[in-house]
Amino acid sequence: MRVVITAGPTREPIDPVRFISNRSSGKMGYALAEASIAGGHEVTLISGPVSIAAPAGARVVSVTTSDELYDAVHRAVAACDVLVMCAAVSDYKPVAVAKQKMPKQSGAFSLQLTATRDILASVAREPHSFVVVGFAAETHELESKARAKLRAKNCDIIVANNVSRSDSGMESDDNEVIIFLRDGALKTISRAPKKIIAHEIMKIVFEFAQKSLTKIL
Ligand code: CTP
Repeated sequence: MRVVITAGPTREPIDPVRFISNRSSGKMGYALAEASIAGGHEVTLISGPVSIAAPAGARVVSVTTSDELYDAVHRAVAACDVLVMCAAVSDYKPVAVAKQKMPKQSGAFSLQLTATRDILASVAREPHSFVVVGFAAETHELESKARAKLRAKNCDIIVANNVSRSDSGMESDDNEVIIFLRDGALKTISRAPKKIIAHEIMKIVFEFAQKSLTKIL
């Protein structure tokens, strides 16, 4: 199958030397790409700035901002069977980007932000024949929030992880996830290295894709 996987954070520039970003390391998305390649699938890995090496065999598209990621995803899904949206997209960006480094000011400083576009929702809202897998990063009420995202973003599958723990999730080598399927089914994968979690996730995703793509054909 042709799989598009997004990974890592986005960076939203404030001025030539500063940006807004998040703690995503890209490890989960890169592990998903590696697991898919190991299963014989064709992988396009769209990655924000990370400090890890891409798995051999992936076609890598490097992006920085959420707008670049938006364009890259919309281009890549034109020819794919599965989209896995694992990137930690910044929810906000500065309204204006200063052309020169902003000088330090004394006292309080505020920056006007505007919401970025929701890439996952925008892709899944259009008519499509590929399987859409989203991620949900939650610190509380994981199940209800993940199920709400699955519906709101029209996903087939949502992989939810608790990002409030320091021993799993963001930046960590380990993760623990709950996978919610569109039909209401739920699968828990208990704490393990991200590489193992990635194999389990992709097994479920490819099984689901196999079934739904066979239905379309
Ligand atoms: N996502 C996206 N575009 C955005 C924000 C998020 O495509 N601008 C995608 C993420 O890649 C992930 C899913 O939406 O697959 C859920 O992301 P998450 O950060 O958990 O949720 P948000 O939609 O940002 O909502 P909130 O921050 O309120 O939890």
